[in-house]
Amino acid sequence: MPTKSFDPLKIRADFPLLSRTMNGRPLVYLDSAATTQKPNAVIEALSNFYRESNANIHRGVYPLAEAATALYENTRTKVAEFIKSPSSQNVIFTRNTTESINLVAHSWGRKFLKEGDEILITDFEHHANIVPWYQLSKEKGVKLKSVPITNDGQLDMAAFDRLLTPRVKLVAVTALSNVLGVRPPLQKIILMAHQNKSLVLVDGAQSVPHEPTDVAHMDCDFLAFSAHKMLGPTGVGVLWVRPEILDTMDPFMGGGEMISTVKLDTITWADAPLKFEAGTPNYADVAAFSVALDYLTHIGMETVRQHEKTLAAYALKRLLERPDITVYGPKILDEQGSAISFNHKIVHAHDVGTILGEEGIAIRVGHHCAQPLMEALHVPATARLSFYVYNTTDDVDAFINGLSKVDQVFGLAKSAI
Ligand code: ALA
Repeated sequence: MPTKSFDPLKIRADFPLLSRTMNGRPLVYLDSAATTQKPNAVIEALSNFYRESNANIHRGVYPLAEAATALYENTRTKVAEFIKSPSSQNVIFTRNTTESINLVAHSWGRKFLKEGDEILITDFEHHANIVPWYQLSKEKGVKLKSVPITNDGQLDMAAFDRLLTPRVKLVAVTALSNVLGVRPPLQKIILMAHQNKSLVLVDGAQSVPHEPTDVAHMDCDFLAFSAHKMLGPTGVGVLWVRPEILDTMDPFMGGGEMISTVKLDTITWADAPLKFEAGTPNYADVAAFSVALDYLTHIGMETVRQHEKTLAAYALKRLLERPDITVYGPKILDEQGSAISFNHKIVHAHDVGTILGEEGIAIRVGHHCAQPLMEALHVPATARLSFYVYNTTDDVDAFINGLSKVDQVFGLAKSAI
């Protein structure tokens, strides 16, 4: 259970957007897997940065520039602490999870993979963890394979075992499905992959914001996630790389501040992390991200997980009571992550999303950038609700009432479903 001091109603008061109305109704925001709302502290940190601290970083020697650099580097240290990385030198700032994964494909994959090698992903993956590997596979003659899911929406570990051949050089897997809220057995996957001498990239976009993360314990080789899904500003991603691998990787993009010396015939690179951060970075948003990390750290990531677990179990239970709804995934109350996917048995997901939207309820509908998963589920689209620290069981109740409105608009009596 959440700690006694954790009160989502108090948390909500920190989020100005959550007090606005939609179509004259209170906004019920259940789309945090897409992006989270921002607390006042983060909004103020961002505007204060521009008011008081703005100067380009890693360049000027005047106090304003040095202070701005310190704020940027301070966030790097906080990120390292947040994911329990012993060092921050292997924490790279990117634009988002997608760019973090593309960086690995470009800087590690292009250098080390060769024709005949294989990359193993899963049917849970977001396009961000499919497309860069597809592009690399076309360029390098590498084979891209995917582990299927079982009928109840879990990763098929027997298939994983079969597909993990000696040719697999990389396993790229999500820690938590953005569609189903399912966690593949990550520790087992990483152990088996390492025994096979394959590296492991973890897409942590949906896990790092929602539960404690310990990279040392996880023992992965690459971890990617985004600030905007954890109360931070948009335009900031993180890539953590195991230090001994980072040392071998080529730069991602070329430009200012990622070099040591430049002559027309020879260029040498700066040390990591700057080697991977060409050009003026998104330093203002990175500086404000540190406040989001403080906010989450103050709540405690175990408390965040427990709160969302309670909400997800409640929502799942209420959805499963409804004869008009199909829920996807294993449907285990205690294990459900912060996202739940469902479909109305008669009404298309887009109509469900539109009607709920008119009621002030924000959920995501569509393929969720996971078309192979939609194919595995044999549906073109699902509706998805997802939670964060500011959600309450009242939000779930409003959403469930919204579903009854869907039946009403379509003239569906319960007995007809
Ligand atoms: N990846 C985000 C989502 O699942 C955008 O909605």
